[in-house]
Amino acid sequence: MSSVPSTMKGVIIDKTGGTEVLQYKIDLPVPAIVDGQILVKNDYIGVNFIDTYFRTGLYPAPQFPYILGREAEGTIVKVGGGDVYGLKEGDRVVWGAEGAYAEYASVPAAKAIKLPSALPAKIGAAAFLQGLTALTLIREAHPVKKGDWVLVHAAAGGTGLWLVQLLRSIGANIIGTASTLEKVDLALKAGATHVINYSHEDVKSQVFELTDDQGVVAVFDGVGKSTFDLSLDVVARKGSVISFGNASGAVPPFTIARLAAKNARLMRPTLFNYIATREEFEGYVNELLDFVLKDGLDARIYKVYNLSDVASAHNDLEGRKTTGKLLLDPSK
Ligand SMILES: NC(=O)c1ccc[n+]([C@@H]2O[C@H](COP(=O)([O-])OP(=O)(O)OC[C@H]3O[C@@H](n4cnc5c(N)ncnc54)[C@H](OP(=O)(O)O)[C@@H]3O)[C@@H](O)[C@H]2O)c1
Repeated sequence: MSSVPSTMKGVIIDKTGGTEVLQYKIDLPVPAIVDGQILVKNDYIGVNFIDTYFRTGLYPAPQFPYILGREAEGTIVKVGGGDVYGLKEGDRVVWGAEGAYAEYASVPAAKAIKLPSALPAKIGAAAFLQGLTALTLIREAHPVKKGDWVLVHAAAGGTGLWLVQLLRSIGANIIGTASTLEKVDLALKAGATHVINYSHEDVKSQVFELTDDQGVVAVFDGVGKSTFDLSLDVVARKGSVISFGNASGAVPPFTIARLAAKNARLMRPTLFNYIATREEFEGYVNELLDFVLKDGLDARIYKVYNLSDVASAHNDLEGRKTTGKLLLDPSK
């Protein structure tokens, strides 16, 4: 059996606020595991916008102190009793649950999956949450078909780049938005048909020009408050606005009668409700990893930050400085 220390490095919050509430500790207790759980020594931890929501209080933390973070890849160092889905000590896994910003995490085995040996280090953590979000959105929130015109906001962001690559692989026509020239270029290289710099260009007129005045059949909007009205404006008759995040703030209360103008659908999905059963979880993770290993989809890593420098990672993500995935290295 691996020797597991009693304390570990990790990041906790004991109140909500700015990045000053992130506390890096070197003596947190290594979590205990119960039946159905595994203890994972994390190698790389994914940073996601949702971590900032728990930090600010937009989403309520279940308790304080609270360890942020929803995904990591690492090695199993202990296995609990009961059904652990065949996972064993020594297996390299990627997982999605709570408490990731630490050297060790106790994880429900149902939320972890063994990584293929061919998958390079970092890619599991880089792909998992954002890649699965994109995959489930285009399959279930609005099933996109070849030739459909769709709009992806923040197309050069972590989730945005996955959406663009996956939509490209099914032959959709993708209009992206992004706020800088560099981000526009990146989204085009990832496979977008056309990218609009929404910091100064008129998105609505370009969308209608590109779609023969029809609008797009689906808008994938993770930006939230600042783009919500625009998303309703550019969606086609009988189309879908998929509002899946709040990068610019939460969408304010909304009068549903507005949907009648186009018989539009509005949906507010979360990844974890699409991968709730083991069958869904395994199916989507394996499919995503196939896209990476067999179809060459790029889990673009923006930067690996030291865990002790987690505040910089949050500042960069919230400051719109990043493209692709931010990871944390818990050993530093
Ligand atoms: N529902 C779910 O299950 C789920 C799962 C994963 C992610 N999400 C959501 O998807 C969105 C993207 O998440 P991510 O982790 O992939 O982040 P990200 O896209 O890498 O970063 C957010 C991007 O949003 C854009 N943005 C526009 N206005 C902004 C503002 N006022 N402040 C900050 N960013 C702004 C920026 O791109 P530009 O500079 O190009 O505008 C920024 O780079 C988030 O809303 C997140 O909550 C939801």
